[in-house]
Amino acid sequence: MKIFIDSANIVEIKSATDLGMCDGVTTNPTLVSQSGVDFKNLVEEIIEIVSGPISLEVISTDAVGMIKEAEILAKMASNVVIKLPLIPEGLKACRILTAKGIKTNVTLCFSVSQALLAAKAGATYVSPFIGRLEDHGEDGVQLLHDIRTLYDNHGFDTKILAASIRTVKHFSDSALAGSDVATIPYKILLKLFHHSLTDKGLAQFLDDWKNSGKCTIL
Ligand code: E4P
Repeated sequence: MKIFIDSANIVEIKSATDLGMCDGVTTNPTLVSQSGVDFKNLVEEIIEIVSGPISLEVISTDAVGMIKEAEILAKMASNVVIKLPLIPEGLKACRILTAKGIKTNVTLCFSVSQALLAAKAGATYVSPFIGRLEDHGEDGVQLLHDIRTLYDNHGFDTKILAASIRTVKHFSDSALAGSDVATIPYKILLKLFHHSLTDKGLAQFLDDWKNSGKCTIL
């Protein structure tokens, strides 16, 4: 499973890249607004750092407007993926952009039926929102399993991009559900490394080494 960083923060994106754990980036209008940076400058900076797919979201709500925005964004780099909302106009735009060879990420997916429509529209990625579905009292991880079954049974090649991941368990459950990608906030990426027994074990190894008094490497 690939790991994308769900962030519009350059320091976070750079750091995840340095860790070798950034296969791509997803942004959304909220994250961009929180960055406080001009959108095009921000995108140019992300493009400098990230060689994998970079999802940039349109803000028009009609297909014509979405396509105009998408064409401008897609020209910025060959790894730009256009993020479109899962509404009728979004899927109309998806079909047209797919025919033009522009990659798409259909976002705000909350049901199997929506995931089916996104795949039929030719989406490169579909983004089911796990955390937000749970906030709503539904089982987000089960949705990932169901979409995996749907796509496998019907031969759809749209990739499942698990999104709205708030916990380490969301991340591991996304992997076990067969997601192709999980997009995660930087703070969750850091948590993935952590286990108390790793810290405890390392402390003990280093103590034992120091106490032996005779072991050297350099
Ligand atoms: C995905 O592409 C979205 O940007 C993101 O995962 C939304 O997460 P949130 O529900 O925590 O805002």
